[in-house]
Order: sequence, then structure tokens, then C-alpha cells
Amino acid sequence: MRGKILNLLRSAGEKFISGEEIANTLGVSRTAIWKHIKDLRNAGYDIESQSRNGYRIASVPDRLLADEIKNNLSANIVGTEIYSFDKVDSTNEKAKEMARKENIPDGTVLVAEEQTGGKGRLQRSFFSPPDKGIWFSVVLRPDFLPQEAPKCTLMAAVAVAAAMRESGVECGIKWPNDILDTGHDNRKLTGILTEMSAEIDRINYVVIGIGINVNISLEEFPEDLREKAGSMLIAKGEKTLRVPFLQNILRHLDRLYLTVKEKGFAPIMEEWRKYSITLGQEINVIGVTTNEVYSGKAIDIDNDGALMVQVGEEIRKVVAGDVSIRPKK
Ligand code: BTN
Repeated sequence: MRGKILNLLRSAGEKFISGEEIANTLGVSRTAIWKHIKDLRNAGYDIESQSRNGYRIASVPDRLLADEIKNNLSANIVGTEIYSFDKVDSTNEKAKEMARKENIPDGTVLVAEEQTGGKGRLQRSFFSPPDKGIWFSVVLRPDFLPQEAPKCTLMAAVAVAAAMRESGVECGIKWPNDILDTGHDNRKLTGILTEMSAEIDRINYVVIGIGINVNISLEEFPEDLREKAGSMLIAKGEKTLRVPFLQNILRHLDRLYLTVKEKGFAPIMEEWRKYSITLGQEINVIGVTTNEVYSGKAIDIDNDGALMVQVGEEIRKVVAGDVSIRPKK
């Protein structure tokens, strides 16, 4: 109902629309409308009212509300359903729970203003303070094989990097999943954590979790993160409105996911190469399972999305690992 009221108010633009008209159009009582308007104001909408003329929207909040994100999105798959939360432990955990228990469809998005237990790769925690970032997860129910799922991370990285560049941030992708601020010492702007539930030959669901540091100043990061953490605020020197920015990411994800469904991952990998800041660089690798440490030159990604590293005469394939780019001498 809130969404429907908002749509009516939006379509009226600058004009006032009476409580009676809203009530008649939506087939509910004027008291019900009044209660919903009160809820919308509590959620941060500035809704003007005039006793003779009714209501109109004066301003919308920069809050990650499902109704706002859905507005003018025209999603094909990613973003057809959106859930927003004030606070969750982790949007990935919430997404997995909902994917298991409720039959949420392919492309469902869950976003939170704050995560109390944000998770990173390799069992690390992920700093997710209220109101200043975009912490969200996308549930996919693809019909490709489970071994293809890691490439969803590359797809998400392309979507975020494309949207960031369009919003004026110089950035690139460090294999496989970090978006770094190439204008400010490769500070980390975004992390991606992809999880999956699958049978041997069939995916039940994939959850792509994306955490973007948007309006966080350097001082607001915990001390241990300050050396490497970045944000769009630090990159641009000004705040970013989160709703239109998130919408743009979802549009890119929708486009890329449709491409995957039609043509597979090859075109996504091509785009990924354009944004990569890892390829062509001397890197250090820490293998995740082996803890083996070695250096080499990142030469390409293969069809599985694994990083190909030239170590002396040998080419090694890194499927999962921690990669750091070695500073040029
Ligand atoms: C990393 O950099 O190691 C990955 C970080 C992924 C963070 C996002 S925020 C939204 C989603 N929910 C989580 O708990 N983690 C992911």
C-alpha cells in the first residue's frame, strides 16, 4: 500500500492530491491513508499536507527503501523483487535463509542500512556501519552448472565497476572480487562474497553479497582498516546519493545476467578484462588451501575465471587465493 500511495504522489508531481482521491483510487479508508502517510514520514519522506488540497512529496530520503529502489528501475530479472531492512546480521545470511524457506525468485535483492555481522571472504568480518554504505545481496537461481558459479563474482565486479566509473570514480577490479580506487593508492571501495547451495549437478541458489563503502570518511573507519580502506566519498570528495547509484548497479547486473543466460560468461569475462588492474602486473599470491606464498606475473583469466600466473617458466592457475599487486620499483 505504501508503494501504491508513493506512486500516486509521484505521478502527481508538484500538484497536491487529496486524501479522498487517494483513498478512492486505492479502495481504502481515508484514515488508512493518513496512517500510511504517517509511516512514510517516519521513514524519512517529507510529505507536505494542506487541509484543502491534500498531500504532495516535498523530498525523498536518501534511504535504501525498497519502494525507492524499485521506482523507475524496469528490471527484467535482477531487482524484480527487492526487500529492504534497517538492520540485519548479514544480508547474505538473510538471503540464504529466505532462499531456503521462502520461494523468492531469481534476481531477488536484499539490502540493509546496517549489518551487525557483515562477513568478508576467508571468514573475515566486513565493516558495515549504518546509513553510509550499500550492503546488499542478490539471490540467483541460474540453470548453469555449479562449477560456473564463481564467475558470478566477476559479473558482480563488472557491474559495480561500471556504475562506479559512471559516477565519476576512477576504479578497477583486483582479481577476483575487490574494486579499488586507482586514483587513491588502490584503496578498497567494494568487496564481494559469493556463496552457493547446490547439488552435484544443479544449483539451488547463488547469493552474491556486495559491500560498497559510499559516504564513509577515513576517520570513520576503524583504525586497523584505515591504511587500506577507501570510499566513494574519499575518491570523489563529495557524497553520493545511494538510491540512484544502487539502481545503476542493478541495471548493469540485470544486463549482464541476461547476457549470461543468452550467451554464457565469455562476454562478461571480456568486460572484466577491461576493468582489471591485476592483469599484466607483478603480484604476490597466497594460496587459500595451501597457504603457499609465491610471486609472478598475472597474465590472464581462463574460462573458469581462474587467474593465470606466470612463475618463471611455469604457468600456475589460481582458483582461490589472496592476491596483492607488487608496487613497481
Ligand atoms: C570481502 O571483501 O572479503 C567480501 C565482502 C563482502 C561484503 C558484503 S556486504 C553484503 C553481504 N553481506 C555480507 O555479510 N557480506 C556481503
